[in-house]
Amino acid sequence: MFRTDLLKDKVILVTGGGSGLGRSMTERFLQLGANVAIASRRIELLQSVAKELGEATGRQVYASQADVRIPEQVTHMIDDVEAHLGPIDVLVNNAAGNFISPTERLSHRAFDAVMGIVLHGTVYCTLELGKRWISRNRAGTVLSIVATYATTGSGYVVPSAISKAGVVTLTKSLAGEWGKYGIRLNTIAPGPFPTEGAWSRLMPTEAIEALFKSQVPLGRMGEHRELANLASYLVSDESAFITGALVHIDGGESAWNAGGFNVLDQVTAAQWDELETARRGSKG
Ligand code: HXC
Ligand code: NAP
Repeated sequence: MFRTDLLKDKVILVTGGGSGLGRSMTERFLQLGANVAIASRRIELLQSVAKELGEATGRQVYASQADVRIPEQVTHMIDDVEAHLGPIDVLVNNAAGNFISPTERLSHRAFDAVMGIVLHGTVYCTLELGKRWISRNRAGTVLSIVATYATTGSGYVVPSAISKAGVVTLTKSLAGEWGKYGIRLNTIAPGPFPTEGAWSRLMPTEAIEALFKSQVPLGRMGEHRELANLASYLVSDESAFITGALVHIDGGESAWNAGGFNVLDQVTAAQWDELETARRGSKG
């Protein structure tokens, strides 16, 4: 889909880049010529992924350990990455925490655990890099991965929904404020993309997975390369006029959920015949 030099020599930091969608984006960025740092809490995992992807692509991959909930660790992570790969051009806020639960079963610590990773972690990483870009008079790009419920809210994932909404608002706010410095910020809202991290916490049984699939008009889950290609475009210079955007990649899930009458999908052809007779019969 892209020229293989699309991201040539860009330095990209992907939080949560050792697993799931973060790993898939990292692999695609490397194939397109970038050097990538991956950061999260599990350093052994990061180091083995860095080794594997570095050998497969011939690009530089650097692993840095950090808990994005802790501002001092974020500062250290960015110092560490810049010392090894040079100044960072692109930040991908991908790290997240989430689980399904009725909200009345949650403690304040459960809220803090998710909001700390998703909302505070994204703020800390964005602020630290934004300050550096502005003081260096250097352009930069931020891409944050949110979720389809970021703009609608959703029950059963309330700490995540609050946090993802905050990330969308952060993105729009700073796209306005920091455009003058050449800093672009965008968000991607993925529908369901199978990953071990999300499936183990959100779709623990096949029955729940089937429920989610039934909400996607295109009738399937997303493929990682589809999201990785969209992310590559949004962090590349080819999207230089796009900022403050929220791009859905969800097989139509958001459109389906927004249309109250889409539940009529369940009506059979025979039932439609009966309905039509009743409807026409009631006329005049
Ligand atoms: C209720 C829970 C819980 C659960 C944890 N808690 N899991 N409460 N139901 N399933 C509560 C704990 O009891 C505790 O409160 C508090 O949360 C903190 O728990 P810890 O285990 O100490 O937290 P921590 O070790 O910091 O781990 C954070 C985590 C964990 C979010 C809980 O799941 C994690 O590390 N996740 C990272 C990866 C991830 O979640 N990936 C999925 C992303 S998918 P008490 O009161 O007991 O002390 C996504 C969108 C998907 O974001 C959309 C799909 C369509
Ligand atoms: P995942 O593999 O569980 O990814 C989450 C990553 O975040 C992990 O690599 C984890 O690494 C890292 N992380 C968690 N807490 C952290 C912390 N405190 N500090 C630093 N890193 C931390 O799940 P995924 O499905 O790929 O999710 C990736 C992104 O896509 C998330 O933003 C998620 O909300 C979004 N998303 C996913 C889906 C989907 O269907 N998969 C749908 C919508 C949105 P460590 O454990 O090593 O810290």
